[in-house]
Amino acid sequence: MCGIFAYTGGRTDAASLVLDGLRRLEYRGYDSWGVAVRSDGRVLVEKQVGKIGDARVSMPSSTVAFGHTRWATHGGVTDKNAHPHTDCSGRLAVIHNGIVENHSELRREAISRGHVFRSETDTEVIAHLLEDELAGRNGDPRALTDSVRSVFSRLVGMNALMVLDSRSDALVAVKQGSPLVVGYGEAGQYIASDASALLPHTRTVTFLADGQMVVASPDGVSVWDAASGKRVEQEVMELDWCPEQSELGEYPHYLIKEICEQPRIVRSAALAQAASAERLGRMVRESFGAFFIGCGTAANAALTGQYLFSRIARHHVNFEVGSEFGYLEHFLTPESLVIALSQSGETIDVIEPLSRIKRERGIQVAALVNVLGSTLYRLADYNVLLGAGPEKCVLATKSYTAKLAILVLTAYAMDGRLKEGQDLLLRAADCIEELLTRERRRQIEELADVIHERDHMFLIGRGLSYPSSLEAALKIKEVSYIHAEGFAGGELKHGVIALVERGTPCVVFAPSDETKGAILSGAMELRARGGFIVGVSPEPSDAFDFHVPVGDCGDASPIVNAVPAQLLAYELALRRGTDPDKPRNLAKSVTVK
Ligand code: F6R
Repeated sequence: MCGIFAYTGGRTDAASLVLDGLRRLEYRGYDSWGVAVRSDGRVLVEKQVGKIGDARVSMPSSTVAFGHTRWATHGGVTDKNAHPHTDCSGRLAVIHNGIVENHSELRREAISRGHVFRSETDTEVIAHLLEDELAGRNGDPRALTDSVRSVFSRLVGMNALMVLDSRSDALVAVKQGSPLVVGYGEAGQYIASDASALLPHTRTVTFLADGQMVVASPDGVSVWDAASGKRVEQEVMELDWCPEQSELGEYPHYLIKEICEQPRIVRSAALAQAASAERLGRMVRESFGAFFIGCGTAANAALTGQYLFSRIARHHVNFEVGSEFGYLEHFLTPESLVIALSQSGETIDVIEPLSRIKRERGIQVAALVNVLGSTLYRLADYNVLLGAGPEKCVLATKSYTAKLAILVLTAYAMDGRLKEGQDLLLRAADCIEELLTRERRRQIEELADVIHERDHMFLIGRGLSYPSSLEAALKIKEVSYIHAEGFAGGELKHGVIALVERGTPCVVFAPSDETKGAILSGAMELRARGGFIVGVSPEPSDAFDFHVPVGDCGDASPIVNAVPAQLLAYELALRRGTDPDKPRNLAKSVTVK
């Protein structure tokens, strides 16, 4: 949450370069944004509320700048609360991602020493504390870094912060929890909260570890241990993503672009993930109790995994959402395996319990993660990279089907039927391709025309399709703001059916499996109460008012069933005038609790 982008080097258009970097990070937060530059020995700040859009900065030429795009935590969405924040003297500017949990106490302390606060944020306290630390240290070359280390040691919580000092051409950043990546480009050095934002400039990066501080100047980069003040060797890696993957190309929105990338991603999982699936399958088999954890869409993939492993590999894997896992970890033993699913690899509700159980109890962790070098990637004992490429839309789509593809393959590999799993994925990729043809997309558009003015929707599935109904509901509600709820088909009669009125859209997932009879009965019961039944199924049925045909893909049906729901969510967003890539109140990569 919140995006940080910084540059220092030979270019003199640092402010616009940073603004462009922020645009690439805007999916991390888009309540407000701001940029600071160092020019003629002064720090100048420009900031405003709203998305960046086509905004330009009118700042003097400079070779060092940083910027921030905000997802508000402390203090409303106002110009004043937008980052960067400055100290009383205007010497320093600070940007920050995370939450300073002890900010009230630190603020009181700073006020008692005469500091004047201009915002309601927790961040501003950092600027004032730094101002005090720097006082009287003129001419001391280590003053800035020592001050940053000292202030950082006083902050409670998961925080990444960066400081721009009017008296230095170095940027100093430090992190605990929230991500920071350093990029080494031809024109200079970059620091960002996400590696994908660096792609136009470089693929050579260092992911900062927790507790590390980086000093970036036009001459180079050095990394330090913030606690001891000792220099550490920076681990340099090459990203395997290319810049074009982050561009919109011919598409109007990232959401539809990323939906359309899915056949290729599922196909490539079938062919490239065989060895990973075999290894992960062995780890599950050898563990004494395995758990899937994830949040949001990743949780829906994890729940699907529980069904897949049960029916394909006849193996029970527990499932829990990341934010609740910490309250259920009592079952873990040293032989347990926790498999975390996460696109970003930065979700705090996954990272926090995992770090704790690893640190305190030495539990083994495996990850299905999309971002190389992310916190989860570095924390896990074994990683399967999703291979979905950068996912820029706030809605998770291709990372979801990539996770499902790996789970299908792993369950088949565990049962000694890897080839069968691969063939199934290739079939699923063909079925998705079919759903993306012009004619089939037109059908979803027609459905959106019919239902886009409704306020409520219900989605049901049984067995493997139950998590599909949860995921479809999540996609629809987060981008169209229609209240959509997914349920296990059998649960309807236990209360929810009271909410169905004449014309209420009810999406029914009815694959050709053991759930079909019961789910169609459920559909009939909804229809008898006036529900408008949308059947997502290989076969038509009398229970459906609107049939969305999907290929019969057996155990891979959740992969295929995800796509009509994603397309419907997109079409509903267009008709309701919402932003398909940046829905209100949300941010990709949830790094605060
Ligand atoms: C929904 C969505 C979120 C994420 C969730 C976990 O479309 O994107 O629900 O799935 O915040 O994010 P990752 O996978 O990065 O851990």
